[in-house]
Amino acid sequence: MANIKFYKHEQIPLEMHKVKIVQELKLLPVDERLKKMTEAGFNTFQLHNGDIFLDMLTDSGVNAMSDNMQSAMLRADDAYAGSETFYRMKDKLTEIFGIKNCLPAHQGRACENILATRFVKPGNCVIMNYHFTTAKAHITRLGGHVEELVKDEGLVSKSDLPFKGNIDLKKLEKCIKDEGKENVSYIRLESGTNLIGGQPISYENMKEATKIAKKYGILTVLDASLLQDNLYFIKEREEKLKDKSVREITRMIADLFDIIYFSARKFGFARGGAILVRDDDLFHSMEDLIPMFEGFLTYGGMSVKEMEAMTVGFDESMDMNIISQGPQFIEYCVKKLDEYGVPVITPGGGLGAHLDASVICSHIPQEEYPAGALVCALYLCGGIRGMERGTLSEERNADGSERFASMELVRLAFPRRVFTLSQTEYVIDRVKWLYDHRDMIGGLKFVHEPKTLRFFTGILEPTSDWPQKLVEAYKKDFGEDN
Ligand SMILES: Cc1ncc(COP(=O)(O)O)c(C=O)c1O
Repeated sequence: MANIKFYKHEQIPLEMHKVKIVQELKLLPVDERLKKMTEAGFNTFQLHNGDIFLDMLTDSGVNAMSDNMQSAMLRADDAYAGSETFYRMKDKLTEIFGIKNCLPAHQGRACENILATRFVKPGNCVIMNYHFTTAKAHITRLGGHVEELVKDEGLVSKSDLPFKGNIDLKKLEKCIKDEGKENVSYIRLESGTNLIGGQPISYENMKEATKIAKKYGILTVLDASLLQDNLYFIKEREEKLKDKSVREITRMIADLFDIIYFSARKFGFARGGAILVRDDDLFHSMEDLIPMFEGFLTYGGMSVKEMEAMTVGFDESMDMNIISQGPQFIEYCVKKLDEYGVPVITPGGGLGAHLDASVICSHIPQEEYPAGALVCALYLCGGIRGMERGTLSEERNADGSERFASMELVRLAFPRRVFTLSQTEYVIDRVKWLYDHRDMIGGLKFVHEPKTLRFFTGILEPTSDWPQKLVEAYKKDFGEDN
């Protein structure tokens, strides 16, 4: 997929796999979609999957497994303690990352809970290139706070910079001095920086940032959940490393960090997670938290079948033909939307295409959640489910005021190996239609607003009858049944 050239055709992504099992999809008529969206409280997390045509909410736990992953599941060794499956998984991780201590956990946020519980004390700071919702929620729950030091250009939506996830090294050193090194629990670098559009961080930047951390004796943590996309971008864009294999680059990155954790709902194409800890004493100091929160130390809340599958998935994440599928589909989608004039995050990152709702819905004030409104409008106009990644995904300040997100994005995730190019074309088509009717989209307001992670379970309603009017306009162009 990475290199195959076309003779008399524009260059398009070419899958290096074939489909062996399919799941039937249905597209509800647009009036029914309006009913379902209303019942879901204008929150795409609350929709039923059966009411969705293309589910682009997330890439988490919904990536397609390979035949090799599925067949590995059959040899899963069920045991509460000492499962052979765990040792196979641990050995594979040691082979790839060069770290032998492994704490299993049921998913990425469980790893974040363990890390925060062990290292964050009230008043502490965790420095990051950028936060991820659940990583931040665990830190603030324990009285810590997060400093996000992604370089300013990482937040510019239209760009051709290759590594928008890079941390600002000057700000990093200043922040350590301002906070006091003893108050910094750890420095967390997120590969494939999720909330700014799945943007990668360069090896060079990781090297420099971890060097600064070491100078001050601060623990370094890599969130490797989106490492596979980041590896693809390093291989494609980081000149100095272009002759290194994906495996060599992975080991070079791993060697920089004290701790690596990941969600195996992304990394490994399955469902689970793990924390790798370089130092033996540090590892032993965290061990007791696994049986307390997750399960015994040889399964950590995961199904052994999933563990077998992800062990094969880790190896597949080292294969350029496989890890290029997601980024190349995303790039195709982003390029076509950009050519049409739709504001999208460029260059295309990993995990999904990201629409810039702050521009598309510039007529909607941030306190009426422009990205939240846009994501609902897209479900109405196409049965496509995306995810709001903007102010709605933030938590309010302590005084109850809104914390406005630095970016208002709608993420259209591309679960790996799941969608076809014609489905991608359909998405592009419906986004174009919606862009041409963007003035019809109005705001949202909360009816029920949970205090923590409100985007998951919050109930909202439109600020006017804009959804009905939008649906009428859609029916004029596409008819009742589309
Ligand atoms: C970068 C990153 N870290 C952590 C997580 C949390 O992982 P999980 O959903 O498995 O809890 C995610 C999930 O989307 C993520 O993208």
